[in-house]
Amino acid sequence: MGKDKLRRFAENETFPNMFQYKYEDLKNSEGFALKGSWKKNFFKNNNPIVLELGCGKGEYTVGLAKQYPNKNFIGVDIKGARMWRGCKTSVEEKINNVAFVRTHIQVLDMYFAENEVSEIWITFPDPQLKKPNKRLTSPRFLDLYSKILIEKGIIHLKTDSQELYDYTLNEVLLAHKKTILLSTNNLYGSDILEDVISIRTFYESIYLNQGKPITYIKFQL
Ligand SMILES: C[S@@+](CC[C@H](N)C(=O)[O-])C[C@H]1O[C@@H](n2cnc3c(N)ncnc32)[C@H](O)[C@@H]1O
Repeated sequence: MGKDKLRRFAENETFPNMFQYKYEDLKNSEGFALKGSWKKNFFKNNNPIVLELGCGKGEYTVGLAKQYPNKNFIGVDIKGARMWRGCKTSVEEKINNVAFVRTHIQVLDMYFAENEVSEIWITFPDPQLKKPNKRLTSPRFLDLYSKILIEKGIIHLKTDSQELYDYTLNEVLLAHKKTILLSTNNLYGSDILEDVISIRTFYESIYLNQGKPITYIKFQL
């Protein structure tokens, strides 16, 4: 492993707003201490919690946190060296409404309790073209999100993958009668303004530079 990665992993251990545990340790203990009490015991406020799943370097998490000081933002990803970037920025800039959880999204409900989360952003997930079951918008994952989301909680999907967009819209949301609040297969050619275009993620900038259309769906379960 490269020295830079090791340095980032070591620094991650020192950040007060980075949480990472071994699955076995959580499973064999009383569980994650902040589950069900993020607001009271970590953020020390009663503001809504917003997750970014597959946050990578955390541009959305940090950017939205600056824009909305009255909400709490938590970036989730499995790659510590990427998350280090967002976490470092939040610590350096003393942004208090940000945290990061390093985990597989598959076990999200080990970190968040029922009704604990108000909104979820899924930003440029791997489209998993050959493995529909692994897509972060597959029914299996939506069931998981429904365990932790408040009633009428909102989910946003932003992706460059037309396949993932079509699959999510037609095979999952329409087929299962979910509420679609907004959808476009060309966000930057649409009249959708909102936060959704005010911050670009790392991958989004790459795709935009390549001239790829960005798609967007806002929905409820
Ligand atoms: C293509 S990158 C997008 C990163 C960022 N959202 C962006 O737009 O720049 C996908 C990210 O999702 C993370 N990821 C994919 N599947 C995951 C899973 N099951 N659990 C946790 N993270 C996952 C990867 O580690 C990666 O950082």
